[in-house]
Amino acid sequence: MRIGILTGGGDCPGLNAVIRAVVRKGISTYNHTIFGFRNGYQGLVSQQAVPLTLDSVRGILHMGGTILGTSRADPLREADGADRVKEAMEIHMLDGLIVIGGEGTLATAWKLHTELDVPVVAVPKTIDNDLASTDRTFGFDTAVNIATEAVDRLHSTAEAHQRVMVLEVMGRHAGWIATHAGIAGGADVILIPEKPFDIVKVARHLKRRAGLGRTFSIVVVAEGAQPLAGTMEIPEHDRDDYGRPRLGGISQYIAAEIEQRTGIETRVTILGHVQRGGTPTPYDRVLATQLGIAAIDLASAGQWGMMAALKGAEVAAVPISEATSHLKTVPDSLYAVAEVFFA
Ligand code: F6P
Repeated sequence: MRIGILTGGGDCPGLNAVIRAVVRKGISTYNHTIFGFRNGYQGLVSQQAVPLTLDSVRGILHMGGTILGTSRADPLREADGADRVKEAMEIHMLDGLIVIGGEGTLATAWKLHTELDVPVVAVPKTIDNDLASTDRTFGFDTAVNIATEAVDRLHSTAEAHQRVMVLEVMGRHAGWIATHAGIAGGADVILIPEKPFDIVKVARHLKRRAGLGRTFSIVVVAEGAQPLAGTMEIPEHDRDDYGRPRLGGISQYIAAEIEQRTGIETRVTILGHVQRGGTPTPYDRVLATQLGIAAIDLASAGQWGMMAALKGAEVAAVPISEATSHLKTVPDSLYAVAEVFFA
């Protein structure tokens, strides 16, 4: 078979491990020819693919980013995008495509499959861990490790200066990173999109802690956290080239409110893309490798329209549409565990 592969959306530690697994098993076991498209769907639309050999995926397992490059381009938003995708499949005589992506990339993959008859197999990825139908996405564990280290490091400087430290982490629609890093790092407040917060209560809690002799506090905030309606003004976000709100910065407003309401000196750290960069953890390398192997197995078996997903300890196949049907948000039960330590 001739199989194309691309990585779309925001990058994520573990992408190279998936590419490596697909190429290694695709060539060694199945004798396929594998082509890589550069920069996500952009490469598909521009119809440029490079052959991926065993040599080209040597030494990339531990590397962050993606050797193929990525973008948030969506062929179906371009006038002749659909035709160009079909042509790309024909020009390179591809039997199918393996798409590694998050919410947006997978929604497009499903449309390519159902509306244009492009044979697609998908692999879910996002550091946000908010895709349905898979228990974990690779990249999340790495991001949580980085965020937890930040919480640990903030402790000592917060204590030295008797400050409140507000740490902002990624998490557009779901607060998985904030919740995990907050629990792991022993945060005193965790604010996530799923639980709109009341800044008055947050400030009261921090003041009470100070009154009890706790000389410093750590607040972990997901970038998508929302104040309860009418409790705090947050300016509208700018939008990126694809119309998505450019998040990041809510912690500045939260910190200003905390300082003003408690009188405690407060500082902000926004982790930003540090969470997405660098080497994947062993957990993410293993998960990404398992998913890559499952994806090439699915493609080889002609199981088009399916996505490799983690279900418990096993990798299973689910329809791509299931992954984008709804968001996987932090369950109340997990947040309740975190709340025990700051409620
Ligand atoms: O979707 C993953 C993610 O890391 C989000 O947590 C974050 O809001 C977004 O990507 C940032 O996107 P960009 O790299 O385009 O600024």
